[in-house]
Amino acid sequence: MDNHCRVIAHSNIALIKYWGKRDSLLNLPAVGSISVTLDTLFTDTSVRFEPGRPADSVQLNNLQADEPERLRVSRFLDRIRLIYKEITGQILPGAEVITANNFPTAAGLASSASAFAALAYAGLKAAGLDLALREVSILARQGSGSAARSLFGGFVEMHRGQLPDGSDAFAEQILTETALNINVLILVTSRQKKKTGSTEGMNLTRDTSPYYQAWSDSAEADLAAMRQALQDADFTRIGHLAEFSCLKMHALAMSANPGIIYWSPATLHLLQQVREIRASGIEAYFTIDAGPQVKILCREKDAPALLQIFQNDSAVEEIIITRPGPGVRIVEP
Ligand code: PMV
Repeated sequence: MDNHCRVIAHSNIALIKYWGKRDSLLNLPAVGSISVTLDTLFTDTSVRFEPGRPADSVQLNNLQADEPERLRVSRFLDRIRLIYKEITGQILPGAEVITANNFPTAAGLASSASAFAALAYAGLKAAGLDLALREVSILARQGSGSAARSLFGGFVEMHRGQLPDGSDAFAEQILTETALNINVLILVTSRQKKKTGSTEGMNLTRDTSPYYQAWSDSAEADLAAMRQALQDADFTRIGHLAEFSCLKMHALAMSANPGIIYWSPATLHLLQQVREIRASGIEAYFTIDAGPQVKILCREKDAPALLQIFQNDSAVEEIIITRPGPGVRIVEP
């Protein structure tokens, strides 16, 4: 067994949002989701299983990971050890994991999506296990729900699934990265770490929001509409549906008790800006994950004009221009 593998996995942003778990242990989503993988943001991860190594070591962005981070990685590798034992009957030793994001980890830019996609793929390959991408996505999901989507390029659907063992809760590509000429502008408004993590936020929402059932009940209609809009390459419809799902998810989080507010004044200002710009004739749509950053969807031809506008906006600390990106891939050691 060549016990080493290094891979790159890209981040993604959900167009139809995932919020809520139907099972915490297996990290099964309460709703499906649809995302676009982003070409500019990625995690580069190398995994080496070393005979005789008792514990896993983790280096994150050139520093030794702190103990909670190391444990999160190590527990995930235990899932790979379990699969390995089931298939080969043998025991995998400890691993050295070296991982780095090419974007600020603390900025709430979905680092767990690319991180667990990369770790799942590199870990399985390093263990000599050649699983289909669908199976890899089932494993990645157990690290972070959005990670299941980051294995694939372009536009990706994560299925909620029905089975208690999660074997039907996987992601798959629905459109390639070259199918639509769009850009995603990431407007960074703050580099501070988010206060409420997604798992904590989802659990609180499920336990306390009076709107949670309505959110779950209406998810399938949103997914079907987005699937159709993507098939039709109907950018206007894609944009409106993405805004709708984003606002619905944030309204849901706000309706938890105590309410979870991921936005800052800068976030709200930018949402209003996007709508004003749209009223003036440039088709731009926003979406926001569990943090204050605003992501703008636009046609490629409109990106320079939008860049110009937001470069001069004091609410914006940094702009990252990106487009639909590729799926996970092995890189040379
Ligand atoms: O994958 P997690 O546990 O980080 O949750 C992701 C939650 C959102 O980013 C807000 C929505 C999504 O579908 O990515």
